[in-house]
Formats: sequence, C-alpha cells, structure tokens
Amino acid sequence: MTLFMIGIGLNNERDISLKGLDAINKSSYVFLENYTSKMNCRVEKLEKLYGKKINPADRDLVEKNSDEILNKALDKNVSFLVAGDVFSATTHVDLFLRAREKGINIRIIHNSSILTAVGIVGLELYKFGKTASLPFFEKSFIPETPYTVIFENKKRGLHTLVLLDIKKDKERFMSVNKGLIQLLELEKKLGKKIILSDSKIIGCARLGSERKVIKYGKVKDLLEFDFGKPLHCIIVPGKLHFMEEKMLEIWK
Ligand SMILES: C[S@@+](CC[C@H](N)C(=O)[O-])C[C@H]1O[C@@H](n2cnc3c(N)ncnc32)[C@H](O)[C@@H]1O
Repeated sequence: MTLFMIGIGLNNERDISLKGLDAINKSSYVFLENYTSKMNCRVEKLEKLYGKKINPADRDLVEKNSDEILNKALDKNVSFLVAGDVFSATTHVDLFLRAREKGINIRIIHNSSILTAVGIVGLELYKFGKTASLPFFEKSFIPETPYTVIFENKKRGLHTLVLLDIKKDKERFMSVNKGLIQLLELEKKLGKKIILSDSKIIGCARLGSERKVIKYGKVKDLLEFDFGKPLHCIIVPGKLHFMEEKMLEIWK
C-alpha cells in the first residue's frame, strides 16, 4: 500500500492541502512527526478536522524504530505528517529511503515551509546562503558552526536564516532573544564583528499565522522585544538591495 508523506503547513489544522486531506481519508494510520517543528494548534484540532486519530511520532520512533511505521504501510495506507514541508530543513530522507527499500509505494504531498515563508520579510530568497541551526548551549556544548555559517554568508553578501532549537520533550523553544544572547556570546569568543549590539537583524515569530510578528532592528533593541509564543527564527541580512531595504522599513 502507500506511505503518504504530507506537509501540513506552518500554522494550524486548516493549512493542509486538499490532496493531503484526501490521503489522510484513505489512511488506516496517521502519524505526526512531533520533534522538529510545531503547529500553532493542539493535536485535537488536527484530529477533529482530519477525522482520524493521530499518533505522535518522536525522534526515536522515526529514526530508530521506523519499522513500526513502515511495516504498517506494507499492507495499509499510512500518512506521515510533518509540520511545514516534508523535506525542508529536517529532511526525512532517511524514512523515504527505508520505505523505498521495503518496496513501499510512496507519495509526497508538499506544503509551505519556513524556508520559503521567510520571503515575507522582503529579502530575496535567491540571496540566502546556507541555513544555520542554533542549538541551546550547554556548559560543554557551545558549537561555533552557526556563527561561522553567518560569517561565511555575510562575506558573500548573502542573508542567513537562523533556525532556533526545539527541545520538544521539555517543551522548550528557543526565542529570538535567547538566540541573540547566544550569538553575542559567540561574537565575544570569535570576534568577527558580525553580531554586534548595533547590528541590524530581523526577528520573526509564528510566520504563516495571523499573529505573526516580524521585527527589524538593532540587536540591542530586539533583545528587549517580546516576540510572544513560539516558533521563532532570526534572519541576519547580507548585502541589501534598495528594494529589500524598502521592505525592511515596514518591519521597523
Ligand atoms: C526544523 S525547522 C522546520 C522544518 C519544517 N519541516 C518546515 O518545512 O518549516 C524548525 C525551526 O524552524 C523555525 N520555524 C518553523 N516554523 C516557524 C514559524 N512558523 N515561524 C517562525 N519560525 C519557524 C523555528 O526556528 C524552528 O525551530
């Protein structure tokens, strides 16, 4: 039978496509990947509109025990739901390949992703460089990669999307403020002068929802700003075209 891998969009139960809904209707089992992103609504809302029970799929289930999902798809239709788009940011290529190895028919149903939704701020998507992921720092774990990625992009005049960590088991979602504090910490350590308190950056929250917040300003000012509920991300602009500057003025 078929494994439907379905992006369900960025906001709430109503962001799913009609194709996605049709696939769920045909499915005997529905799983929701619940560790790399988050919808702005409760699972019950999804269950009500989709008309099916939704089984949460944590990292262990998807990455270590994926047979529990895939074996069901050998003789039944199974829907695997992902917030945003299926292959964006966290790729789920692993699950796709394992399903293929088992000879399972796979259908992909796309949706919007944070990788494209950031277009709303007015920066040219073609001018984004490598995406950075910023994890919560721990005493023995302060990775420099996110800072290096921003530096390398900036050198080429490219913008950087910084995705912020999610610790789903602890319901911890990194805020723009926390992200900036950590980037300033890396600035202090590595000193390339890319994230200074006067540097202008963009903080975003809940893109795709009616309650989205986009704020363009100096790091020192955004540090004081309350972006509200998750999810948040940061954009560090590279070289700006005057049209991009004009758009950013809107979010000051
Ligand atoms: C792994 S990525 C999401 C991948 C998802 N499959 C997609 O296509 O959007 C998760 C990170 O993206 C950012 N993010 C996701 N959705 C967001 C939203 N609606 N508004 C702001 N940031 C968001 C957050 O930083 C979050 O920690």
